[in-house]
Amino acid sequence: MTALSGKRILLVIGGGIAAYKSLDLIRRLRERGASVRCILTAGAQQFITPLAASALTGQRSHTDLFDREDEADIGHIRLARDADLVIVAPATANLMAKMAGGHADDLASTVLLATTLPILIAPAMNVRMWLHPATQRNLTTLRADGVHVVGPNDGAMAEAEFGPGRMAEPLEIAAAAERLLVPSGPLAGKHVIVTSGPTHEPIDPVRYIANRSSGKQGHAIAKAAAEAGARVTLISGPVTLPDPAGVTTVHVESARDMLQAVEKALPADIGIFAAAVADWRVANAGEQKIKKKDGTLPNLSLTENPDILATVSHRAENRPPLMVGFAAETEHVIEHAKQKLARKGCDLIVANDVSTAGGVMGGDSNTVHLVSASNVETWPTLAKTDVARKLVERLGSLTEGAKS
Ligand code: C5P
Repeated sequence: MTALSGKRILLVIGGGIAAYKSLDLIRRLRERGASVRCILTAGAQQFITPLAASALTGQRSHTDLFDREDEADIGHIRLARDADLVIVAPATANLMAKMAGGHADDLASTVLLATTLPILIAPAMNVRMWLHPATQRNLTTLRADGVHVVGPNDGAMAEAEFGPGRMAEPLEIAAAAERLLVPSGPLAGKHVIVTSGPTHEPIDPVRYIANRSSGKQGHAIAKAAAEAGARVTLISGPVTLPDPAGVTTVHVESARDMLQAVEKALPADIGIFAAAVADWRVANAGEQKIKKKDGTLPNLSLTENPDILATVSHRAENRPPLMVGFAAETEHVIEHAKQKLARKGCDLIVANDVSTAGGVMGGDSNTVHLVSASNVETWPTLAKTDVARKLVERLGSLTEGAKS
């Protein structure tokens, strides 16, 4: 396996117990043909030694910003420049905070501030530290700065705790690095925008209108598209699912936010709009919480939300050449899907039956019909992850056909 042949990776190892896994990560990256150079923070050196890292990389490891020999030899600015990718693993809460805040008080943080290379972080920390609003805020900042994130995974942690915070496995990190450095697969080089989940339409600052969408299908499609080599922007309404690895996820609340995020993410080669966008919003939503008054009911008036799929499909400029919509129907599924295809102006509709008997919303499987202007294809009941893979495969062959 030499998928990373000729690629140079700078691996910044932070001070967490997961640092021992970074030694295995070096091996995995080298197995794939990459050359690896390491920076260890002071914390990392409490867990592993620079010598262990050097023995595995075959190169000197770096630890000190003010090391005279290092500065004469390669220097922190060259360290920040002479690679194809920087991986931070484990990315501790402290290292993430420093990156988000632009601190530069040791070699690792200085190099991370000085670099313009793509950065992939593999967070690892105690579950409460991960869930702390400060860490989540830093994560949002880092994502907005274009930092790629792999993991963390859910699972047993060093302190006999359980939850999100475990560093992604070395093989997952190596695969994420590979996706960043050598896009391959049927959607390589394509930008795919996926919308997913429900939208929340405020009634007042504490109440909202929503629907039962879980986001499982849309998130699975985003993940499958990334695995097929695409650069994926996932625009997600409020869901409880983790952000898929290797995907840029933008979180939104309302339909209007979602449309704005989609517009910002354009241009794209493919748009897959799987979100269950609320059809209506409250026109007279309260700025303050609406007070309950005995005997009187609030008078909510509804207004129509923008139709994101139709808006983007009907654009004269910047329309993704392949637009895919979803149709959740409770009866006359195919007939309604065909009408929707025409009305929305998209190229394909993935239609499914969401009548209670089907149990699609929130469930793990889906029975869909793929409806185009000239064809209807019914797929067997499949796991949503398999529907996603099959759909992505199909889109790959359609975009391939469009090229020739
Ligand atoms: O009209 P309906 O909601 O059934 O259409 C479903 C399709 O249209 C889905 O692809 C959904 O993501 C998209 N849609 C949208 N914006 C809306 C309503 C639906 O993008 N406001």
